Amino acid sequence: MVVQERELVEPQALPTDTERRQRTFSGIQPSGSLHLGNYLGAIRNWVNQQEHDDSIFCVVDLHALSLPITPQALRENILDLANVLLASGIDPERSVLFVQSDVREHAELCWLLTSVTQFGELRRMTQFKDKSGGQDEAVAAALFIYPVLQAGDIILYDADKVPVGEDQKQHIELTRDIAARFNARYGETFVLPRPDIKPTGARIMALDDPARKMSKSAANPGSFIALTDDADTIRRKIKRAVTDSGGDVRAGTDKPALTNLLAIYALCAGEPIEQIEARYAGRGYGAFKADLAEVVVGAVEPIQRRLAELSADPSVARGVLARGAELARERAATKMAVVRERMGIGGAG
Ligand code: TYM
Repeated sequence: MVVQERELVEPQALPTDTERRQRTFSGIQPSGSLHLGNYLGAIRNWVNQQEHDDSIFCVVDLHALSLPITPQALRENILDLANVLLASGIDPERSVLFVQSDVREHAELCWLLTSVTQFGELRRMTQFKDKSGGQDEAVAAALFIYPVLQAGDIILYDADKVPVGEDQKQHIELTRDIAARFNARYGETFVLPRPDIKPTGARIMALDDPARKMSKSAANPGSFIALTDDADTIRRKIKRAVTDSGGDVRAGTDKPALTNLLAIYALCAGEPIEQIEARYAGRGYGAFKADLAEVVVGAVEPIQRRLAELSADPSVARGVLARGAELARERAATKMAVVRERMGIGGAG
């Protein structure tokens, strides 16, 4: 009798970090009109990322509740923001795009993670200090808990990479700390994400003050370019933008205003800063600013055109968000079943 040799079965190796398709997650608040900083610092990179990563993008409406906002404004902002993201090039065939509150697991995980987050860690968040303006007796507790909700957003989907602007770096570092603490206490559960912050554009500064970041909550609308500003408004704002002393068009630590304007130019035109500096050498600020205005107009115009089309038919965005919520919910439900089990909660089995 011939004894058949048992077929050798190679043990299946777990995919290593380099083999697994990288997963990207990022979020944006529906708290009002978007500005060029949001686009150049974040959205633009999301659009590029979706080419190769497994990408999930989220309209974080629960975060927007941390500052006063009416239900009607929030509802309108959510749809407007979804339209801006689609108009900017987020492709629902390649990325999951959804609204945070449509996936209940975000709120649930936030609460669970507050038990592995230290009060002192949250107190050290600079964004809380900025947004509360030192009035921490009066602001909503949601503003304090905000980074925990953000941490949950990211680790719920095992994201490896979080493309954000520089102002979010501290929140992503906290996310890693929270995930690591959870893993140490309950066993390996969450992936530790890393911030993906680009060297240019991660901190677009205000046009009227290069020491402050561009922000939609600024009192002077001349300090930011809204993605919905028309061409003449953009030209006027750039013309009035502050510059540095000395007339040469050059980036450098002694030239904060020009450094910012050059970064905007470089990203909108897709050209390296050195090339732009060389072109405007000896030509002064006037010529540079006039061209910069046209470059910015050229970058936002196609987005505005697509936005007008999408806004005319809200059913498109609604359909994308409904499908996105379904896909996100599937992933979130699977992960949360593990989290609940690890933490020992839930009684019905
Ligand atoms: P938010 O809505 O304030 O901003 C959205 C994105 O825009 C970036 N950004 C900037 N980038 C460059 N220059 C600027 N002046 C500038 N201003 C804003 C922000 O860094 C951000 O990437 N907490 C987040 C939302 C959030 C989130 C998340 C992000 C909730 N959950 C999970 C990543 C992952 C926020 O308030 O972004």
